[in-house]
Parts: sequence; structure tokens; C-alpha cells
Amino acid sequence: MRKLIIAGNWKMHKTVAEAVSFVQELKQKDLGNGVEVVVCPTFTALAPVAEALKGSNIALGAQNMHWEAQGAFTGEIAPAMLQELGVKYVILGHSERRQYFGETDQNVNQKVKAALEVGLVPIVCVGETLEQREAGSTEQIVTQQTTGALAGLRPEQVAGLVIAYEPIWAIGTGQTASDEDAQQVNQIIRQVIDGQFGGAAAEAVRIQYGGSVKPGNARGLMAQPDIDGGLVGGASLKVEDFAGIIKNCL
Ligand code: G3H
Repeated sequence: MRKLIIAGNWKMHKTVAEAVSFVQELKQKDLGNGVEVVVCPTFTALAPVAEALKGSNIALGAQNMHWEAQGAFTGEIAPAMLQELGVKYVILGHSERRQYFGETDQNVNQKVKAALEVGLVPIVCVGETLEQREAGSTEQIVTQQTTGALAGLRPEQVAGLVIAYEPIWAIGTGQTASDEDAQQVNQIIRQVIDGQFGGAAAEAVRIQYGGSVKPGNARGLMAQPDIDGGLVGGASLKVEDFAGIIKNCL
């Protein structure tokens, strides 16, 4: 039985003060225990948010990291630097990282391995563009991205991962994938994992959907058999919306 995981990706939003006040408010909400809740602030807000989350079940995630343990990489953050702050999850290979910062499947694979080495749980993002969907290549793209990101991992490592299927055309556009379309792609991803890492890993790995998830569409999406949670952007920025999504999952 896979526990649903709802992660808020705040992207480049919220100052430290805003981030801390958000989690203080979120902690007051009765979110139940049925869903694992994660917030992913900017790097500058990680430490204060970690402090503010103490005494709650809400986990902390980062939005990116470098794959090297240390070195001359100006502006980058190493895996152990996240781990020492109490970060549990790290989003890797988000489409915005791929699109604006040139991240490749190989980079994502290096990052996934580096994250696992220090005990961070990667949230690995995959997803097709509108052109790719219209050309009928969705399956090929997500297969390639999933295979590339997970290359060389052991089945038990894959079992503990979170994958986020995020069709790029649905991100920040208000055009959510239909329940059926999202389910179909999540199922494909699970089949790819089954083929490469075996049934136990495929059964255990959690596969989120991301792309304009809102309180109003969360229930239908999360009821799909292969959708195990959501990676939420815009709607994770307001406590009411984020808490609404969490409540509507169950
Ligand atoms: O990481 C989150 C996604 O990019 C989804 O963003 O919920 O604003 O569409 P969105």
C-alpha cells in the first residue's frame, strides 16, 4: 500500500519571513495522517523552515542540488549541505531545470545517485512538451527520461524513490491533464520500472502527478490507481489551497 505524497514546490517564491509564516499557519491545520506532506522552499528558506516545522509531520524538501560532494562549483549546493539541514526530499530534473538550465537525463542520473548516497529521497520529474504529446511521443519521452534518470540503480533504491509525472503543457497553465490521461502515463512509468527493476520496485515506487493540481481536481487525480500523490506549484503557495488539496486527497 503506497502512501500518498503531496509536495509543494514553491519554485522562486516566498522570502524567509513568508515561508516561515506559511508553515506556521499550515501546522495549525488538521491535515490528518493519511497523506505525507512536503514543502520545498528556496535554498535560503530551508534552515528557518526546518526550524519552524519542528514538532510537525510535515517534511522538508529542496528544489535542486549539485551531484558533486564539494568543489569549485560557484553558486551550487551539495547533497550533504541539504541533508545536514534536515531536508528529506529533493526535486531533481524538474522541467524548468531542464529547459532553462540545460539539465540532461545524465545530469539527473548523477544527481539521483548523489542524493541517495547521503540519504535524501529524490523526487524525479519527467514529462513531455505539448509538441511531443501532439506528435504521439509521450510514451517514448517518459520512458527515455525515466530510464535515463534511474540508470544503474538497484531495485531497492528505485523502490524508495518518488517520480513526478509532469506534462510540461500542464505546468502553471491551468490545463490539468485529465484523470485518465495522467493515470495512463503514470501506469506506463510503472511498467517501465517493472521491466527494468522488477515487480517489487514497481509496486513500491510512488508516482506523483504534477501540473495545475488544485483543490478541485485533486480528488479525481489521486483516486487513480497509479497516481500516488501530487507535485504542486502554484496552488502550494496559499495555505488554504494547499491544505485543500491535502484534504481532498482522501
Ligand atoms: O513542480 C510543480 C509543477 O511544476 C506544477 O506547477 O502546479 O503551478 O502547474 P503548477
